[in-house]
Amino acid sequence: MGFSTVDISLRPMAEADLDQVMAIESASFSCPWNRDHFDAELASPHAFPLVACSDSGEVAGYLCPALVADDGEILDVAVAPAWRGRGIGRLLLARAMADCRARGATTVHLEVRPSSSAAVALYEAFGFVRTGRRKRYYQDGEDAILMQYTFT
Ligand SMILES: CC(C)(COP(=O)(O)OP(=O)(O)OC[C@H]1O[C@@H](n2cnc3c(N)ncnc32)[C@H](O)[C@@H]1OP(=O)(O)O)[C@@H](O)C(=O)NCCC(=O)NCCS
Repeated sequence: MGFSTVDISLRPMAEADLDQVMAIESASFSCPWNRDHFDAELASPHAFPLVACSDSGEVAGYLCPALVADDGEILDVAVAPAWRGRGIGRLLLARAMADCRARGATTVHLEVRPSSSAAVALYEAFGFVRTGRRKRYYQDGEDAILMQYTFT
């Protein structure tokens, strides 16, 4: 949409962000993560969740990556409805992928709903490829598309 992302900064997610993160999560998903999920990410030695903040300190989006051995995973990503279409999702994904690589990932995988067409397009634009489909993967019965990125 041509908006600038210059006023957005990325930093590690903190406990104090969770009220805003939960509001975005609830606005973004039919089966949202609860607070315990995010607390677990903040506590996990394998996870390095990020938030994107506006210049006024508002949380505009977040992404939860994790790495076990050399296998990275994107567990959750959302941008607040009012902030979508300005390159924030791309910015979060690019940082998370750079973090995965710096921590020694050789691959990064994820599962995504076919109905999340914006997310599928974001991942494909980054270079993720579809590696399979898991039938009725989600609680509500929707399939998951499996995607993977391989660092070269
Ligand atoms: C997916 C999501 C995080 C994208 O965030 P965003 O900040 O709006 O995305 P960006 O502006 O950075 O767009 C980056 C790319 O994503 C794709 N994209 C973003 N919005 C799109 C849309 N509405 N339709 C199709 N493609 C879209 C495009 O490839 C876009 O690149 P382009 O602008 O060069 O065309 C956001 O739409 C969202 O929070 N959706 C709901 C939650 C969700 O589905 N999360 C993923 C679960 S795995």
